[in-house]
Amino acid sequence: MHCLFKLMALALAVLPLVSADLHAQGTQPHCSVANISLPDALTGDSHGLTNLTALIPPANVSIVQVTIGFGAQNYTCTQGKYVNVGAVAQVFDISCIQNLPSISAGLSLAINELESVAGEGLLNFITMLAKMGGFKLADHYFDTSSGALAPVFNFQISGGGFAIGKKLQDIPDPVNPIKNVDWLQLTAVQGDAAKFLVREQTVGGQPPASCAVENETLQVPYAAKYWFFG
Ligand SMILES: *[C@@H]1O[C@H](CO)[C@@H](O)[C@H](O)[C@H]1NC(C)=O
Ligand SMILES: *[C@@H]1O[C@H](CO)[C@@H](O)[C@H](O)[C@H]1NC(C)=O
Ligand SMILES: *[C@@H]1O[C@H](CO)[C@@H](O)[C@H](O)[C@H]1NC(C)=O
Ligand SMILES: *[C@@H]1O[C@H](CO)[C@@H](O)[C@H](O)[C@H]1NC(C)=O
Ligand SMILES: *[C@@H]1O[C@H](CO)[C@@H](O)[C@H](O)[C@H]1NC(C)=O
Repeated sequence: MHCLFKLMALALAVLPLVSADLHAQGTQPHCSVANISLPDALTGDSHGLTNLTALIPPANVSIVQVTIGFGAQNYTCTQGKYVNVGAVAQVFDISCIQNLPSISAGLSLAINELESVAGEGLLNFITMLAKMGGFKLADHYFDTSSGALAPVFNFQISGGGFAIGKKLQDIPDPVNPIKNVDWLQLTAVQGDAAKFLVREQTVGGQPPASCAVENETLQVPYAAKYWFFG
């Protein structure tokens, strides 16, 4: 009961950050992304010596969506190590608020709290958050519709198309790579929702270093900024 109360309080605290307004799902972004820049986001924080410019897509594509994905990374225990077998996440528009430092802080807090919620409880909670928050743009999941298990970003809920990604760049999180999943650049191999995607400012999602029970599954909550370019 105490835990549920904490999570509700957390949801109320974080949702206004994730979603600029609490209107119906599927509403298109309120704010122009014309003057938002990924390079600014990558260089704005001091990430030491890590060279993050490799994540920036070619100059002939431009930003079409700035979002936060909120969900879980799935793992299966294979010969003593957790192997990633996909992810499920809900993707929210943050075009109006993408520069607020409190977004990152709020997400770190949320993910730390979510780590105490296991399995189905976690996914149920994330689904509840998504229903409460407006501006949900897309569902992120993995499927084999492109022939191999691949990340899908499906914008059906906001009246858009989809993109199936293939990884081009993979850089360990410059802040805490043990806890936070890698930063990525993907290119779309199918779909017209985006040509390139960048995942950065990740929070959570990494599994423990080892596991004991073969084939045991694990879900680790994570959040990240996803930038869509078209
Ligand atoms: C983007 O920046 C340009 C140049 O500073 C400015 O003219 C334009 O109004 C800005 N667009 C938006 C949507 O803020
Ligand atoms: C970062 O890497 C890019 C190539 O990916 C290179 O052009 C650039 O000079 C590098 N910047 C620094 C500061 O090392
Ligand atoms: C962008 O430029 C690359 C070459 O650098 C080219 O292969 C690609 O087709 C161009 N994409 C668009 C959307 O114009
Ligand atoms: C991740 O785990 C959830 C819950 O078990 C499941 O619904 C989802 O299909 C899984 N996705 C992948 C890609 O394994
Ligand atoms: C783990 O799963 C694989 C593939 O489904 C199966 O072949 C194997 O027997 C399983 N191992 C154990 C210990 O359950």
